[in-house]
Amino acid sequence: VSEIIAFMNMKGGVGKTTLAVNVAYTLAKLSSKRVLLVDMDPQMNATQYCMSMKQVERILKDKNQSIFGLLNNEYSLKINKTSNSGDYQRKISDEDALKGKRKKDPWIHRVSNNLDMIPSTLEVMYLNLSSTPHKLRRYLKNQIDGEYGYIIIDCPPTISPYTKAALLAADKYVVPTKAEVFTTLGLPLLQRYIEQVILDASGHDLEFLGVILNMVDERRKMYKKGKASLSEKYKNKLFESELSNREDIAKAIDDDLSKEKYLFEIKNPEVKNEIINITKELVRRLKK
Ligand SMILES: Nc1ncnc2c1ncn2[C@@H]1O[C@H](COP(=O)(O)OP(=O)(O)OP(=O)(O)O)[C@@H](O)[C@H]1O
Ligand SMILES: [Mg+2]
Repeated sequence: VSEIIAFMNMKGGVGKTTLAVNVAYTLAKLSSKRVLLVDMDPQMNATQYCMSMKQVERILKDKNQSIFGLLNNEYSLKINKTSNSGDYQRKISDEDALKGKRKKDPWIHRVSNNLDMIPSTLEVMYLNLSSTPHKLRRYLKNQIDGEYGYIIIDCPPTISPYTKAALLAADKYVVPTKAEVFTTLGLPLLQRYIEQVILDASGHDLEFLGVILNMVDERRKMYKKGKASLSEKYKNKLFESELSNREDIAKAIDDDLSKEKYLFEIKNPEVKNEIINITKELVRRLKK
């Protein structure tokens, strides 16, 4: 069984994508298990982070190579039916066939050793997800379960059908946030949403793993105040490991092809240690 974890906060720009992508990358590096990153946000930030310009162009041209294809009933049913002979054919090597491996679905792309991703596309906005909110979960649980040790889902900062589908697909969630009083104010709102829409209305269990502080600047008063109020409210649900506010991180994303866009590959050992510590702490919290 895979651990399915959503990175969620209704506040925008707090580091959901940065942390989801980099935790996924670091997990793939540190663990022997395979990792799948799912971009559920039509803004495509995680997709642009991980895919090359060429890949992004290809995905924009053929939306079925993204989560759109998976969630779009017409297409996903068609390729299931025609997978052996029909118009859609993906070659599977003899070796993989012998091992009984499934053919890769067209929406799964390789990012690095051990890390695959399902990219997003702007056009998921045109899908009617409200009628099939459980489709992503069924796919992750029934069709690809066992292929990945960890599945990380990057959510948009909205109350939307995509966020709902992501939260219904996940078993657990973490909340990246900035350590500033005003950005942490939205957290009770998020928890109320999760309780009402996910737990009560759908009967789906979703475990809260904790809050991760991002863009930390220990010199700032806001940090101290924000952290004090968070640790009072969330106690042991506040991650001890944090990600500092650093220019290398903001710059990393601009770099299309460099491997160093991943924090794990950044030469600065402090940045690398921070993302390793956050990832290890997440794994510890999964086991609790
Ligand atoms: N620790 C950090 N230090 C410096 N810049 C950071 C850090 N974390 C994230 N950023 C930058 O802040 C911006 C927002 O980060 P990110 O996209 O990860 O947030 P988000 O919560 O996913 O946003 P959205 O709500 O739009 O999806 C990005 O430009 C990112 O490069
Ligand atoms: Mg994001």
